[in-house]
Amino acid sequence: MPRTHTFPADFLWGAATAAYQIEGGWKDDGKGESIWDRFSHTPGKIADGSNGDVACDHYHLWSEDIRLMQELGLRAYRMSISWPRILPQGRGKVNSAGLDFYSRLVDALLEVNIIPFVTLFHWDLPQALQDEGGFAERATAEAFVEYADVVTRHLGDRVKNWITHNEPSVYAFVGHVWGAHAPGLKQRSLGLKVMHHLLLSHGWAVPVIRQNSPGAQVGAALNINYSQPASPSHYDYHAWRYQDGLWVRWVTDPLYGRHYPADLVAEAVETGDLPLQGLSFVQAGDMDAIAVQTDFLGVNYYTRLVVRDQNIPEGQNLPQTVFQAPRNDSDWQEMPDWEVYPDGLFNVLSRLYLEYQVPQFYITENGASWSDGPDANGRVHDQRRVNYLREHFAAARRAMQIGVPLKGYFVWSLMDNMEWGHGYTQRFGLIWVDFQTRRRILKDSALWYKGVIAEHGF
Ligand code: FCB
Repeated sequence: MPRTHTFPADFLWGAATAAYQIEGGWKDDGKGESIWDRFSHTPGKIADGSNGDVACDHYHLWSEDIRLMQELGLRAYRMSISWPRILPQGRGKVNSAGLDFYSRLVDALLEVNIIPFVTLFHWDLPQALQDEGGFAERATAEAFVEYADVVTRHLGDRVKNWITHNEPSVYAFVGHVWGAHAPGLKQRSLGLKVMHHLLLSHGWAVPVIRQNSPGAQVGAALNINYSQPASPSHYDYHAWRYQDGLWVRWVTDPLYGRHYPADLVAEAVETGDLPLQGLSFVQAGDMDAIAVQTDFLGVNYYTRLVVRDQNIPEGQNLPQTVFQAPRNDSDWQEMPDWEVYPDGLFNVLSRLYLEYQVPQFYITENGASWSDGPDANGRVHDQRRVNYLREHFAAARRAMQIGVPLKGYFVWSLMDNMEWGHGYTQRFGLIWVDFQTRRRILKDSALWYKGVIAEHGF
């Protein structure tokens, strides 16, 4: 079949994971407790009552996993470091066994020419820091810089691509306002304060990382889904603008030097998303620190959100004009409420590029949850994931054709894993994992991806 989409030969095809979701080894070799250990051990928090104590047991099976990455031909691998493995109490005493684990991992990746992209914070905060208030406290931003310093001093000679934070808005809102993620708080006015301290810690850490890791490329990974109003009504536009403002612009504006969206502050106080004192947690110099120049922006894209104003009776609103297929359609991911919408990836990339003149992009996550398992012959026919990836790669290629400087693509996820509050009920992997035996099987999507990588396209 002729190739319809080709990618540049130096395009970084990769896959992504996060420490808590795959490692297990939750108490091994001096690791401290994380907020996800605490949260998942609290009855009723995880959909299937599970936890990440063992997960994919990557902590012990990592060399097998690198072999599988090599078999796929991955050129890059996005992983995260567990903060409490390095600093069990969050700051202070360093656990050298934790550093050694990641050091071995990085060496083994480099040996087979897989470029590590390392995320410093993918949500597993040391519980000891949460006990002091976590990211609601400015002191935790200081602790993050200490942690970033320790890690990059040890790995910065070999790791040259660093991601400070993963999805600050999910961490802030889902963990502190909705209570569905660790630390499980439900305090509306906490979200934007936590966000500020995350962004501040990013800004403070970037120069430290650069100093410890000469020549490194540094960025953050943001969750940017595509959203649109459900109808042309004033109500839906307003609701959409606020939601997009809170979830997207509240992160991208300050990172690119525009302060927090001034047009939303009064409304955020009214809704309770900001405390009555507004932005009083912002101190002199913070916004300059946050706007530190970075080398790339990581985009995690999954779906489209269609926003309807829920506060007014349907009869008073205009009829909906933006439609989505019914949710039981096989085109929906099994992840509740996640529509498959490849054009959204094009829209998101072009918007960010045009609005903020982002110098380089990586898709740091994109993928889908379908639970196809092995057939009688031990093959996993996840054709829907193949289709999903094919269409999203094509959308990314279209964005590149209008000038978006996209340099690489990390499929979420390398392997099935512990999907946070959903436990093991959602399988996002290219590789199927048997959570009883920890056996791995390359799904059809993995074999297809291998072909794409080998051919620079499809
Ligand atoms: C993102 C997370 C990632 C994974 C995917 C499905 O929000 O960053 O760890 O859970 O969703």
